[in-house]
Amino acid sequence: MNGATVDRMAGVDPVPGVAKPDPILVVDGVRRSFGGLTAVDVEHLEVQRGTITALIGPNGAGKSTLFNLLTGFDRVDSGTWTFQGKQLNGLGGHRIAREGMVRTFQLTKALTRLTVMENMLLAAPGQTGERILGSFLRPQWRKQEEANRARAEQLLERFKLLAKKDEMAGSLSGGQRKLLEMARALMVNPTMIMLDEPMAGVNPALVQSLLEHITALRDEGMTVLFVEHDMDVIMGISDWIVVLSEGKVIAEGRPSDIRADQRVIDAYLGSGYEESGREPQTDTGESHE
Ligand SMILES: Nc1ncnc2c1ncn2[C@@H]1O[C@H](COP(=O)(O)OP(=O)(O)O)[C@@H](O)[C@H]1O
Ligand SMILES: [Mg+2]
Repeated sequence: MNGATVDRMAGVDPVPGVAKPDPILVVDGVRRSFGGLTAVDVEHLEVQRGTITALIGPNGAGKSTLFNLLTGFDRVDSGTWTFQGKQLNGLGGHRIAREGMVRTFQLTKALTRLTVMENMLLAAPGQTGERILGSFLRPQWRKQEEANRARAEQLLERFKLLAKKDEMAGSLSGGQRKLLEMARALMVNPTMIMLDEPMAGVNPALVQSLLEHITALRDEGMTVLFVEHDMDVIMGISDWIVVLSEGKVIAEGRPSDIRADQRVIDAYLGSGYEESGREPQTDTGESHE
């Protein structure tokens, strides 16, 4: 986190639902059940602007469901949330993306039978309905198309995918698809990006590169909320960690707070964590300092 953010978070108590000095996202009483199962039941949660916040918790804790709800891919049973002060309840995924909050999926949604570039252009602003209007305003539409293509190339370059732009997304490796997914999400120039297990199934060399991308986005001022299981990764890059269990926030705090939280260790990290959590990351193919 940058210096200013560190200072502002210094006085924040590591307790569930604690207020943040400059929250970009504020969640209130968001609940979602499937039949008799309460998947998400978040009383209050604030995400501080400009941080990398990790959302952790055991399988089935409700992490993906919470992402789905907040980004308009599922409907809450009750509750409200605001993003940059604006209520998002009831808005669909495209509208929410246009407000500046985008997400990636646990299982990548890259369209395998389209090229990498086509995938990027489909994620661009103005690809849903506005195109009909656009046909009446052809010169502007063409200008938009050119701008989209330029932005796509820039992002593909950044994620080292430019050489693959005309290849089918289906021909990419699992890790490259994760990178494409991230690049796609950035097409709308978001202020907040939510990543659902961006590192899952990615080889160690690409994990390193993904981590650098995530840190770079934060350093450029973006807010990142991500779901991850690897404790080394989480402790290494997170400014703040939120622990979800059975749909509820059971803990939140800095990595040092979470590492020391007996409830988290019991519920999630397990007794083996003390030793395994300190293992250095290996086999990135590069030397360590
Ligand atoms: N569409 C759905 N229909 C029924 N149950 C669901 C659905 N989506 C999620 N669940 C259930 O809700 C709980 C939370 O799931 P999920 O949000 O995917 O957890 P996580 O991402 O933390 O592993 C799980 O018990 C899961 O089986
Ligand atoms: Mg999940």
